[in-house]
Amino acid sequence: MKRFYVTTPIYYVNSKPHLGHVYTTLIADTLFRLKSQRGFDTFFLTGTDEHGQNIERAAAKNERPVKEHVDAIVAEFKSIFEKFNFCYSHWVRTTDDYHEEGAQELFRKVRDAGYIYKSHYEGWYCVGCAEFKEEMEAGKAPYCELHNREAERVSEESYFFKLSAFQDRLLKLYEERPDFIQPEVRRNEVISFVKSGLKDLSVSRVSVKWGIPLPDDPSHTMYVWFDALSNYITAIGYGNNKRSGFDNYWPANLQLVGKDIIRFHTVYWPAFLLAAGVEPPQKVYAHGMWLSGGRKMSKSLGNVININILLKHFSTDQIRYFCLREMVFGQDGDFTYEALIERCNADLAKGLGNLVSRTLKMVEKYCDSNLPAKPKAFLLTMPETAWHKEAIEVREVVLANRARFELEFSSYNFSRALEAVWEIIARVDKYISDNAPWKLAKDPSAREHLETVLYTVLEAIRFIAVLLVPILPDSALSVWKQVGLFSTPEEINPESLVWGELAEGITLGELKTLFPTIDKELTMSEIQKEESVEVTETTESKPTENREFLPLRPEITIDDFAKIDLRVAKVLEAERIPKADKLLKLIVDLGEEKPRQILAGIAQYYTPEQMVGRKIVIVANLEPRKLRGLESQGMLLAASIGEQGQPVLASFLEEVPIGARLK
Ligand code: MSP
Repeated sequence: MKRFYVTTPIYYVNSKPHLGHVYTTLIADTLFRLKSQRGFDTFFLTGTDEHGQNIERAAAKNERPVKEHVDAIVAEFKSIFEKFNFCYSHWVRTTDDYHEEGAQELFRKVRDAGYIYKSHYEGWYCVGCAEFKEEMEAGKAPYCELHNREAERVSEESYFFKLSAFQDRLLKLYEERPDFIQPEVRRNEVISFVKSGLKDLSVSRVSVKWGIPLPDDPSHTMYVWFDALSNYITAIGYGNNKRSGFDNYWPANLQLVGKDIIRFHTVYWPAFLLAAGVEPPQKVYAHGMWLSGGRKMSKSLGNVININILLKHFSTDQIRYFCLREMVFGQDGDFTYEALIERCNADLAKGLGNLVSRTLKMVEKYCDSNLPAKPKAFLLTMPETAWHKEAIEVREVVLANRARFELEFSSYNFSRALEAVWEIIARVDKYISDNAPWKLAKDPSAREHLETVLYTVLEAIRFIAVLLVPILPDSALSVWKQVGLFSTPEEINPESLVWGELAEGITLGELKTLFPTIDKELTMSEIQKEESVEVTETTESKPTENREFLPLRPEITIDDFAKIDLRVAKVLEAERIPKADKLLKLIVDLGEEKPRQILAGIAQYYTPEQMVGRKIVIVANLEPRKLRGLESQGMLLAASIGEQGQPVLASFLEEVPIGARLK
């Protein structure tokens, strides 16, 4: 029996789940359902990443013990995933006993193979990324543009993993297995990263307590990414006997991740596995990011789509459809409620929903709710009439698009796979309009023609339900029941579905509206109101959330302060910098002879349009610095808020002239 093991990243429990987390999980859920339907022995793993400094700090901020904090967030994740009816086979938590045992065993194997050595780590670490950062300039803290803050100095004893020993082996792996990293664009990025040289990796911390102790040296805790990545095998029994399935399911067929964490999954992860003598997974697929208002959707930006608001107005099937149809898998996509409503109305209500309801109403009316028998058209070797011929042609369109659907899905082109189904819908709609069953019904001599049309359409609908059930589980099942069919569409393998096997003498089930038409204006105004309440609530609760007070820096004299020249400047131009997602290049007027160029790590929070014309405060006498080959002649001032250090620009309530000095 063929098997399919699919994983999602395990999600950090430092904040609530949002659409980004739901997205990866719903793709995994769809693939899991699709493969199960096709007879595979399937396993679907998701879960939570619960160790590390970041989580330790999030718990401290919420003033509760770490375990209590992680349990509460895990419960929130689970309740959201339950609402989506995700059918994961197992939920792994890195705080589970078996996982700790398994992760330690993996570490032991890597160490026994000679790839771990003890040394001293002297360098920089960004807690937000859980990543060690390269020093760009001697003695200066590297700046993390993603978290808008400087990396923290770490100087401690540490165990190191000999990542440098794996450069050639990794490159060989990428070459021998070209689809190990997908899509191609990510594969190329990873290859050039590895070619540029790999340094050994610090894989333990003495100063972090919330983690898995190292085997044989419990004064160290395991590096969070070593701990987290091992979940994919510990959850199926590697290194422990509380779980099982490793021999059957490993190597995983597909590891789904967002492109933000591709390096951990395609460089570190296979290197750890190779070091321990375990085969790397078959494929790592890195999808794109949902953007909101043109920027990456993230908690710290405050532009995440609130799942509760989303679920109040849309069914899980509508959301699943939109996510798979709207975003070209692998690329970034912009999420807007307007686009979601349009898709729901055009494709689901007017498209699929209308086709099903008009067909079933005709069966109700013209056939007394009984499905017609298989028509002659599908029994003849040569069609006798033009309408026989047309019915056969419709059948061919259905069969061809079933094949297209399978092909596109197997290449992860979800959007195009759905297009294939909607091509069937369009063809069948036209078939109904061209043949006008409502006219045929008035003419008793046209009975065979009428039944041929209805049967053909019902067969197409049966095929559509079987194809769509992994994507729209609730709606496909509803269609199935409304038609009056037995068992469920998910029990039917589309590959073995035979045209013309629609059972005879079936009576329709109860008819229901599949997808109501959404009133765009009304829904948008409701959503906007709910979002503004949500924003106020989050802002109001901020003081408690942000109670953490960073220690003051050492005292300075007024003369020290006087050395800093702070000035008001006006932004004349602003633009993004290619290949530097986080930086904006600003041209600012300080009242000097010539405008200055400033590079600021705010691109994920402010758009160029928002910046032009705005007055900001800059440190005007700061030594110029080069970033990405461009000179930055000053630094703008912003408050750094929230866990991710989101910047909020310093500004004035009254009018201030350009060049004014702050003192
Ligand atoms: N804990 C690590 C992963 C460890 S895996 C061994 C982590 N967690 S996370 O909570 O930050 O989740 C990141 C993942 O969530 C992304 O890789 C992606 O799968 C999903 N997404 C988070 N934000 C997203 C978008 N805006 N858009 C699409 N997916 C997003 O990293």
